[in-house]
Amino acid sequence: MRNGYFITVEGGEGAGKTSAIDVIVQHLQQMGYNVVSTREPGGIPIAEQIRQVVLDRANTAMDARTEALLYAAARRQHLAEKVIPALQAGAVVLCDRFVDSSLAYQGYARGLGIEEVWRINEFAVNGTMPDLTLWLDVSPEIGLSRIYANTDREVNRLDLERQDFHQRVREGYRLVRERFPQRIVAVDADRDQATIHEELRKVLDSRLSGLSDTPSGKL
Ligand code: TMP
Repeated sequence: MRNGYFITVEGGEGAGKTSAIDVIVQHLQQMGYNVVSTREPGGIPIAEQIRQVVLDRANTAMDARTEALLYAAARRQHLAEKVIPALQAGAVVLCDRFVDSSLAYQGYARGLGIEEVWRINEFAVNGTMPDLTLWLDVSPEIGLSRIYANTDREVNRLDLERQDFHQRVREGYRLVRERFPQRIVAVDADRDQATIHEELRKVLDSRLSGLSDTPSGKL
């Protein structure tokens, strides 16, 4: 039986997922929870191998549906080997990206259709969905400017194409949130880090309070 709590973190490039995850882990540990932090695609050897194939820039021939199926396959293996056992052991599992990445990137931004991509993912997740998803909603201009903050180079055509793609990713996340309004909490990630992190702590406090009277590694 599952008795843990499953949290996922989502967002486009430059949203600040990595530092947000550090803050979330620290906060949950301070609250007394046993935290398992992991990522997608990857988190375990088989899924890390799939990650290499799917993110290899040399694989230009990869069909969009193949890509979506590979993400779903990596997701299934990661769930079966790592996430579900940790939830069964009562941990809080924190995952950097999950099914909403596929819905926003493959479903909307790449044009496969959110419902189409949801169908293959429903098969993959087989009922294991996050209890809470924190969507770091960053505008593409700010997200990409953070990524380029330490380089002096000028913005080129590829950057503009990327900006356009990330605008579609953002719109995809917005539509996915409309589909799962109870689960997904949007956090305005255009603001400074301290403000974002404070809001994340508040969301965690309100969502996790009342789940357990004795936060001793068990929920
Ligand atoms: P990262 O930036 O979090 O390391 O993610 C790697 C890339 O994988 C990122 O560009 C988003 C992409 N991705 C998808 O397109 N679909 C998915 O289902 C997942 C998990 C990631």
